[in-house]
Formats: sequence, C-alpha cells, structure tokens
Amino acid sequence: MIKKADLKEIREKIIIALDVKNRVEAKNILESLPETRIFKVGLELFTAEGPDMIDLVRSYGRQIFLDLKLHDIPNTVAGAVRAAIRHEVSMLTLHASGGREMMMRAVEAAREEAEKAGIKLPLLLGVTVLTSLKDKDMEETGVKSESRAQVLRLARLALESGLMGIVCSPQEIELLRRELSANLKIVTPGIRPVWAEAQDQKRIMTPAEALNKGSDYLVIGRPITQAASPAEAFARLVKELEAAI
Ligand code: C5P
Repeated sequence: MIKKADLKEIREKIIIALDVKNRVEAKNILESLPETRIFKVGLELFTAEGPDMIDLVRSYGRQIFLDLKLHDIPNTVAGAVRAAIRHEVSMLTLHASGGREMMMRAVEAAREEAEKAGIKLPLLLGVTVLTSLKDKDMEETGVKSESRAQVLRLARLALESGLMGIVCSPQEIELLRRELSANLKIVTPGIRPVWAEAQDQKRIMTPAEALNKGSDYLVIGRPITQAASPAEAFARLVKELEAAI
C-alpha cells in the first residue's frame, strides 16, 4: 500500500509523455509542469526535432526517458545507446525481441559510456509485447505463444541480459512481480486518473491502482498534456493519489 510519507516520492514516479509535434509545444508543456521530474521523449517528437529535444528537457533541469524502443543488430543498438548516454538520458527503451546479444551489448555499451562520461548509469528498460498486438497479430508474425506467456518470456530474457526493468501494461504488473526479481523496475503506461477519458487506451488502470500493484513509474500523456490547463490536471492527479493514500 502507498504510505503518506511517500507522497513526494510518489510525485516523482509520474512520467509525463511529451507526445507533441514540435519544440514550441514541448516548451509550453515543460513550462507549465514545473513539478514533473521526468519527461518521456518518444518517436514522434524525436523524429520531428531530433536530440535537441533531450537537451531542451535537460535545460529545464528535468530528467529524460528516451522511448525509442531500439531494435536492430547489436552493433547499431550499442552505438545508439552510447549516443543516448552522451545526451545524459536517465531511462531508455529497447525491444526485448531484439534478442540476448543485442541487449547484452547495449548494457555493456551503457556501462562503458556512463563511466567514461562520469554519469549515473541510466535505467535500460525492455519492451516485451506491444499492447497494440493481439494473439492473432502475434501469430501472423510467427509467435505462437499466448501474449502473457510471451511477455513473461521476453521479460525474463531482458533481465537475464542485464536490463534493469520492463515497460508493461498495468495488467501485467502482478505477473511480473510474482515471477521475476523483486528488484526489477516496472514502468506502466495505460494509466488514467479516475476523472480522465480512456481515449484509445483499452486496458487502463488508475494511478493509485497501478502503484499499489507494484508499478515503479507511471507514464501519463494526454490526460495532462492535452488538458486545458496541464498544471491543473497534474495537481488533480497528485490530489487523486493523495486521496488514495
Ligand atoms: O496519452 P497516453 O497517456 O495514452 O500516453 C501513453 C504513452 O505511453 C504514449 O507515449 C504511448 O506511446 C506510450 N505507450 C503506451 N502503451 C504501451 C507502450 C507505450 O501507451 N504499451
């Protein structure tokens, strides 16, 4: 259960997804959310504006979760991880389906580069089965397992390969907590405050439920970033967590 003393810590577990089109919009969000510690930069913004966006978030003194879901040959992924570390990201994602060697080389590259730069090793997180895929979609790609079994298999492989955590749906938290190491960091999108619309998210959970089930970080985007006042929406979210304690 969440305890009152942990409230500041809980606020710091909220990651805001900076899913906006350009630098101007990103700046607006950063300026309206001074209490948010971590921002997620994903494919859309990164492709639009490049690594400048990482530096922009850092220039506001915030941390970066770089969510590019890397998946390529080991040498290429290791190179991308080195580059990300030179930009001092705090968290980054890789597809566990890229395989053991890809993940091991990524971890090795991260350790070396962080040491060289004298910075803290970022959290390397594995992405298992995309929540947009149904069992039928997986079968079409040759994966015959039922999706929960595949999530567990890939999560286990990610940890064995040296990754520190997993990005998963809130519905998978209990399975991963039960079956895998207690030290594993769990990051969950698909979070909706009780007052927010589900939008296209199907298997949602409230922030308090996800934390109680054992999520370490909650990724929340549109309910905050597309609110008329992101600052008010963030305050409301924190209040909701407070009330749940
Ligand atoms: O706006 P919303 O709160 O739905 O944003 C959730 C964020 O988490 C988005 O950046 C989305 O890409 C990401 N995400 C997700 N579901 C996953 C993995 C990532 O919604 N399974």
